[in-house]
Amino acid sequence: MSEPAKSIAIEDLTEAQAVLELEHLAGLIADYDIEYYQNDAPSISDGDYDALRRRNQDIEARFPELKRSDSPSDQVGAEVTEKFEKVPHAVAMLSLGNAFDDDDVGEFIDRIRRFLKLDEQEPLTITAEPKIDGLSATIRYEQGHMTVGATRGDGRVGENITANLRTIMDIPDTLPGPDIPDIVEVRGEVYMGHADFAALNARYVAEGKPPFANPRNAAAGSLRQLDSGITASRPLRFFAYAWGEMSTMPEDTQTGMVDTFAAWGFPINSLTKRCKNVTELIDVYREIESQRASLDYDIDGVVYKVDRLDWQDRLGFVSRAPRWAIAHKFPAEKATTILRDIEIQVGRTGSLTPVAKLEPVTVGGVVVSNATLHNEDEIARKDVRTGDTVIVQRAGDVIPQVLGPVLEKRPDGSIPFVYPTVCPACGSNAVRDVNPVTGKEDVVRRCTGGLICPAQAVEKLKHFVSRNAFDIEGLGAKQIEAFYVDGRIMNPADIFTLEKRDARSSTRLKDIDGWGDLSAQNLFAAIDARREIALNRFIYALGIRHVGQTTAMLLARTYGTFEALQSAILSAKDEEGDAFQELVATDKIGLVMSRALIDFFSEAHNQDVLRQLLGEVGPVPVEAVRSDTVIAGKRIVFTGSLEIMSRDEAKARAESLGAKVVGSVSKNADLVVAGPGAGSKLKKAVELGIEVIDEETWIVLSDK
Ligand code: IVH
Repeated sequence: MSEPAKSIAIEDLTEAQAVLELEHLAGLIADYDIEYYQNDAPSISDGDYDALRRRNQDIEARFPELKRSDSPSDQVGAEVTEKFEKVPHAVAMLSLGNAFDDDDVGEFIDRIRRFLKLDEQEPLTITAEPKIDGLSATIRYEQGHMTVGATRGDGRVGENITANLRTIMDIPDTLPGPDIPDIVEVRGEVYMGHADFAALNARYVAEGKPPFANPRNAAAGSLRQLDSGITASRPLRFFAYAWGEMSTMPEDTQTGMVDTFAAWGFPINSLTKRCKNVTELIDVYREIESQRASLDYDIDGVVYKVDRLDWQDRLGFVSRAPRWAIAHKFPAEKATTILRDIEIQVGRTGSLTPVAKLEPVTVGGVVVSNATLHNEDEIARKDVRTGDTVIVQRAGDVIPQVLGPVLEKRPDGSIPFVYPTVCPACGSNAVRDVNPVTGKEDVVRRCTGGLICPAQAVEKLKHFVSRNAFDIEGLGAKQIEAFYVDGRIMNPADIFTLEKRDARSSTRLKDIDGWGDLSAQNLFAAIDARREIALNRFIYALGIRHVGQTTAMLLARTYGTFEALQSAILSAKDEEGDAFQELVATDKIGLVMSRALIDFFSEAHNQDVLRQLLGEVGPVPVEAVRSDTVIAGKRIVFTGSLEIMSRDEAKARAESLGAKVVGSVSKNADLVVAGPGAGSKLKKAVELGIEVIDEETWIVLSDK
């Protein structure tokens, strides 16, 4: 995915640039959300993702009137921020500075001695322990009982994942013994072991799900589940190595504290050593590095910490890292091998990714036969060619990457790699978005054949039948997968010809395991019930890039009929022409979305399926926005749990009555409907003096 356009300072943004960037961010964040929440496979770090959201919010704060109807701070943003409650950390969760070589370690020790004014004779004990490559978590105990568990978050505020942390066997629910301080916060790393990771991935592959890229992602995906039952089924482990708030300190050294945690039942890392000088630290570092490949968990360095806690206190912090600790990182492991082929894989969202097919080679104890080449531009920049001898690197145990060719070994007659401009899975055009702010192309090329591309088909079909799209009863994700595999439903039009084809088929649906005469008839009836469908749902169902529910509604209202929409988009193909300018200027549509619409409707494969689909289904115009109701034109926020109506129904009801549903409480909101468990939003509404009602009042109000 493309890099955020972070070059322009918020205060220097012109209004026009802000419009474009907000549009760009909305699309980008939506894509990352899909990777994160649906695929458990984020391609950017949490920090970078948060930075994107913050940038979006900052731009909105400066230009409130430019806030989009599909703003990430409202829509998916609501999902993200509401996914887990926020928990402020009583004591901040810090990060660590890095040392990359022995000299950096020497300087670290010198700095500490200087800072503490220790003379040469004064012993300085430093602990050395593996840096675990997982996710840090903090667990709070009051009177010996676990009360709250949280992620690190931004260091000051984390996410409440108590229920999930409770499922981890390594984390005790209660602390034993009479001498437990009233308040204890144990911190450490949640991780997944290699053997467990391999078994989980094998199960995923067998179930037709995409495997996790590495144990860290698997641990992250498992820990951030809303359903703690899922977390419980994932083999997560924990090492304790630090602490937060403590009402009394049981020990006065790092070692003593960690040993206490062990006595309380927490696993601690057995490779931890106490050292007296740099030489000993480096020895431990080499020793741990030599064991790295045979450990059952990923580590990416060694952490050194001053043992005496009174000295830790005196040393304190610089920005967000302690002066008393440092992470000595392992260098990336490298090897050379032959690049046999460059394969272009198509992801479930249509992104084309180049994968290097390698002569298998051992890198840091692991046999590597595939490596990432990142993207089209990287291949061109490095001029990597099939047949080259290439340098392969595993850095921090992420997917191995090809660093570049060894030119002296290039075989005669080799030719530069030509990146495909059509999708290798379906033959549709593959395009690169242009970032409207920087004018630069996205690094990722994407297939535009969303409706027919086999690489994307199952995901698109699931989207097509999803609750806010066609919402066909009895045809959910599970059935779609099965029908795709047995060839019954390969594209959306197939759904509507299912009954006809079934009647002529030798393997009737009713005879298949799990189906019967009645359930098959019910399914056909449910499908028939959707032959007429609101235009906005129809548009949304197509899964056009950047077109979410709000945009689909906007398009439905703007164009009235599908034919009108289609012909407006097709006539806007020429970017110099008036029709294009008109499309881009449409309220909240903009450049990125216009191009996505044009790409989608111009693709011949999509046109074919649309033609078939429109032969079966009739989208009907949506009602005009109401202005005659008590809540018409009001901005409404729903928060907490609703007990009578589902959120979706409440939202649909509000919208049908001419109101606008927004995700966050700001001074622009008019009404907050708060159910049980409403938290920060309710508080904010009260602070801002916004009217708050409960669900029952809402029912009465929305009935009028
Ligand atoms: S100590 C105040 N010890 O590394 C220092 N951190 O880069 C708190 N990590 O967020 C951290 N293993 O997630 C410490 N043995 C270890 C660690 C460790 C992994 C992670 C931790 C932290 C990050 C900082």
